[in-house]
This record gives sequence, C-alpha cells and structure tokens, in this order.
Amino acid sequence: MDYNLSAIVAIDRNGAIGKQGQLLCHLPADMRHFKETTMGHSIVMGRKTFESFPNGALPGRQNIVVTRNRGYQPQGVTVVHSIDEALAAATMPGEVFVIGGAEIYCATFDTLTTIYLTVIDHEFEGADAHFPRIDLRRWTIVDRSDHPADERNPYPFAFMTLRRKKAVTHTK
Ligand SMILES: NC(=O)c1ccc[n+]([C@@H]2O[C@H](COP(=O)([O-])OP(=O)(O)OC[C@H]3O[C@@H](n4cnc5c(N)ncnc54)[C@H](OP(=O)(O)O)[C@@H]3O)[C@@H](O)[C@H]2O)c1
Repeated sequence: MDYNLSAIVAIDRNGAIGKQGQLLCHLPADMRHFKETTMGHSIVMGRKTFESFPNGALPGRQNIVVTRNRGYQPQGVTVVHSIDEALAAATMPGEVFVIGGAEIYCATFDTLTTIYLTVIDHEFEGADAHFPRIDLRRWTIVDRSDHPADERNPYPFAFMTLRRKKAVTHTK
C-alpha cells in the first residue's frame, strides 16, 4: 500500500529545533497540534528524542524508536536499527510521521512528501539542533494559519503545511 512520509516539526526563525536535548520552548498550542496531527499514526523518532519525553511512549500512536544499540528495549515502543527498518515496521494506517530529532529529520528529509511546520517567531539563543534547510522553490505551502502570542503561548507562531512539488511515494 502506498503512503506518504511526513515530518512534523517546530522551528524558530533560524531553523533551530532544540537545545541540550530539549525543545526550545513550551508552546501548549503546538503540543495540541502535534497530538491531533499524529494521533492514530505510526511515529518515527531518534533514541534521543524518545528519551526527552517525560512519560515514555506517546499514547495512541505506534512509537518507533531508531537506535544503533542492539540491546535497547524500553517499554511500549517498536525498536529498530535503521531508517529503512523504521519505515518497514510502521503498521498504523495512513501517513507515517517523522517526529525528530535533527539526525532523523536529516536522514529522511529527501523522501518526505509533507512537512507540518510550526514556525515560532523568535530567535532562540544556544540552540544545538536544527531542521534541514527548506528550499521553498521545491515546496508548496498548502495551508497556513498565524497565531499571536497569548497568556499560555509566549511567542507568536504559524502552523504551515508544505507539500513537496515532486512527491515521493513509499510502499508498505
Ligand atoms: N522542535 C521539534 O519539533 C523537535 C522534534 C523532535 C526533537 N527535537 C529536539 O531535537 C533534539 C534531538 O535531536 P538529535 O539529532 O540530537 O537526536 P535524535 O535524532 O532524536 O536521536 C539521535 C539518535 O538516533 C539514533 N540514530 C540516528 N540515526 C540513526 C540511524 N541511521 N540508524 C540507527 N540509529 C540512528 C542514534 O541513537 P543511539 O545513540 O542510541 O544509537 C542517535 O544517537 C532535542 O533537542 C529534541 O528536543 C525537536
């Protein structure tokens, strides 16, 4: 069965995604967007991103964790040892989501069809993880909504959906 490989990511104005193993900031609206978008799907992540979650595997989704460590087996996740193995292991319907971090985005970027992009209108100091540079000549912005900062979300942000002009198809 054919499916799309999608990434979901929050970047700042410089394409930064993380600092010292954590997200750049807490944006509850983005957390909700992430949950709604990925619920019911397979999600693929690097071992470091998995270990950044406070409560382990994310419920309602197949958590696929990529590591080179053959002895790694935390509870409630599908452990794989390469990107190809991760995609082959995805069993939930529809899109498969790459949810980070930088290494895994980089390794899958050329085969993504869709990017669910949150752009945080801020420049964070000291970021040490980045999303690959997006060449907007190769992508169409198919959806965009802008949101001001509010009492719960400290920075303005935009949700965008980008679709690659030349789509790449994967087969399950
Ligand atoms: N803003 C966002 O939307 C967002 C989303 C996700 C993550 N993040 C941030 O990104 C940062 C983490 O990114 P990161 O690049 O340091 O780590 P990562 O991509 O989450 O995980 C890296 C690990 O994945 C495994 N790995 C990577 N490529 C592999 C391959 N080809 N085959 C097998 N295993 C592979 C290795 O695990 P082993 O070392 O176990 O072998 C590697 O150390 C954190 O700051 C996190 O908060 C941000």
